[in-house]
Amino acid sequence: MSSPWEDLRLVVTGGGSGIGAAVVARAAGLGAAVLAVGRRADRLAEAAAKARADGAGLVVPYAVDVTAPDAATRIAERAGEVLGGVDALVNNAGHAVFDRLEDAAEADLRAMVDTNLVAPALLTRALLPMLRGSRGCVVNVSSVGGVLAMPSRSFYGASKAALNSLTRSLAVELAPDVRVNAVLPGPVDTDLWDLAAGEGADALREGIVSGTPLGRFGRASEVAAWVCHLVDPETSSWVTGSLVSVDGGRAA
Ligand SMILES: NC(=O)c1ccc[n+]([C@@H]2O[C@H](COP(=O)([O-])OP(=O)(O)OC[C@H]3O[C@@H](n4cnc5c(N)ncnc54)[C@H](OP(=O)(O)O)[C@@H]3O)[C@@H](O)[C@H]2O)c1
Repeated sequence: MSSPWEDLRLVVTGGGSGIGAAVVARAAGLGAAVLAVGRRADRLAEAAAKARADGAGLVVPYAVDVTAPDAATRIAERAGEVLGGVDALVNNAGHAVFDRLEDAAEADLRAMVDTNLVAPALLTRALLPMLRGSRGCVVNVSSVGGVLAMPSRSFYGASKAALNSLTRSLAVELAPDVRVNAVLPGPVDTDLWDLAAGEGADALREGIVSGTPLGRFGRASEVAAWVCHLVDPETSSWVTGSLVSVDGGRAA
């Protein structure tokens, strides 16, 4: 029996590592065609090679910085060329720098807003004609940090709170043509942790695990499963404007 995934075409940003790579692997494994976007060409090529080795659907890497001025237009053009349309946009690329207010650099605040809010908004707009044409969907990979108080991570939390707001407003604005939802991961073991938390990473990790009812970091594959659940027309065609926590109970 054929699966609806064999007809799905996805654009996944941050597709070369962590949660994004897990989304690419899962979607392609189900038979979808995926344009995997990120800055590091080598990581994207690895994700594409792994999908090929697993005998999965098509994965096309596209190395581009989503915050570049013309990125949204270029990604839309590339998606049109290689996929012939788009059924789902997964705005997963994210930037995180954890610092107290007194120590945080203005450039980091701007980079988080550019990557975590402005880029998803502009990419959604650029892909909108194709998403409307397919009656497709957007899944934003936000964070539990967008709903909890985030001492020492306030800029990151604020950028994800803004992404949550964008998700809910666009869900109403774009209905009934395009569904818009978000997944809010709790702490997940990816590169982001080491890069964002620097020297204090170990202490921060311990504190976070003790504040997580299920008592551990999550796995990228556990978040990817929910992203794909929200893309899947069989499970989620009546779901829009939802902020789905996948967080070990952290926001409960
Ligand atoms: N890990 C967690 O605990 C956690 C918790 C809540 C939410 N999240 C969210 O989950 C998403 C994925 O993060 P992750 O944990 O999987 O970490 P990750 O492996 O570091 O993934 C982040 C991805 O975003 C891409 N990216 C960053 N800036 C980009 C830019 N300007 N242009 C294009 N791509 C860019 C990176 O690729 P390149 O460097 O190659 O560009 C990378 O593949 C992020 O939105 C993050 O905020 C993570």
